[in-house]
Amino acid sequence: MQKLSPLISLRPLSFSVAATAMDSCVLVLCGKSSVEDDVAKRLKNNNLLKLPDDTQLSLLLHSEMENLVKDDCDSFNLSLFMNSISTARFGRFLIWSPRLSSTHDVVSHNFSELPVGSVCVTDIQFKGRGRTKNVWESPKGCLMYSFTVEMEDGRIVPLIQYIVSLAITEAVKDVCDNKGLPYIDLKIKWPNDLYLNGLKVGGILCTSTYRSRKFHVSVGVGLNVDNDQPTTCLNAVLKDISPASILLKREEIVGAFFDKFEKFFDLFIDQGFKSLEELYYRTWLHSGQRVIVEDKIGDQVVQNVVTIQGLTSSGYLLAIGDDYQMCELHPDGNSFDFFKGLVRRKI
Ligand SMILES: *[C@@H]1O[C@H](CO)[C@@H](O)[C@H](O)[C@H]1NC(C)=O
Ligand SMILES: *[C@@H]1O[C@H](CO)[C@@H](O)[C@H](O)[C@H]1NC(C)=O
Repeated sequence: MQKLSPLISLRPLSFSVAATAMDSCVLVLCGKSSVEDDVAKRLKNNNLLKLPDDTQLSLLLHSEMENLVKDDCDSFNLSLFMNSISTARFGRFLIWSPRLSSTHDVVSHNFSELPVGSVCVTDIQFKGRGRTKNVWESPKGCLMYSFTVEMEDGRIVPLIQYIVSLAITEAVKDVCDNKGLPYIDLKIKWPNDLYLNGLKVGGILCTSTYRSRKFHVSVGVGLNVDNDQPTTCLNAVLKDISPASILLKREEIVGAFFDKFEKFFDLFIDQGFKSLEELYYRTWLHSGQRVIVEDKIGDQVVQNVVTIQGLTSSGYLLAIGDDYQMCELHPDGNSFDFFKGLVRRKI
């Protein structure tokens, strides 16, 4: 499994707990149409899904889950989600769990068994993937999902996280528009964090493997919709702007996400990132940002200031120095914050 570069992974959205030893998980399989429902039956009958650890999985079809989480109005509403998507590929096969170690493990470990575009959603995640080996628990109220994408051109695989980020910010705007709600100005902190009013409310993690001449990309998304701890969340900000407003639902956001993502992904594959660049730059936080880079001159490290212009074709930051020299910014590998300890490469 290879982490995509340039990438800084999803940081914990909440607090850490000790790793749970043996666990058992319920996965509910649900399709948009009878085609995906047949896939669900096949996976269940042949018991095809597995997790990397010793987790015991029980697979259920949507039609069998009635007694499981009855009356729990906080849990993800599968019908509401399925009704809210109108995609041709993405999000049409859903795996939902009330509590799961990691949505990313479910889709990445069993990539080939699942139809491309399959999504796994959980209400509580207790082994979310982070950059370090820490174990993180994300409580209810966070929207957490992972889904699969197949790509052929390795050169553009690292850019997929930007398409995902943009699909989320645009999806949230769409949901607000559709419900007549005030506008929530979700922003992208490059490379893969989501910010609201200067606070982190979400992030994206992409990993890929190369199999049978294709890149198997697993995309993980975490977005704090309903939990105002430890920072803020979408609905808290919405209530601040307009106390009487109806709140955003996770199902509607992830539904709108797949509608956006499918459109953006097709544009991206057909016409390249250029077709989305303008929208992306309007949504990220970095146009014109001045950052310090460390230049090596002989044995000396000299700090210089450069101004961010955009992205390079390989997905790194494009910047211009005070000497008008264009450069590509790379992390020095020592710092957790991408914007510290940058080194520049002349281009
Ligand atoms: C699903 O993932 C598990 C854990 O990595 C693996 O052992 C199993 O072979 C996978 N199943 C299939 C059908 O690929
Ligand atoms: C789930 O969504 C469906 C479709 O929108 C709705 O009819 C149903 O009442 C919802 N269930 C719960 C428990 O909210």
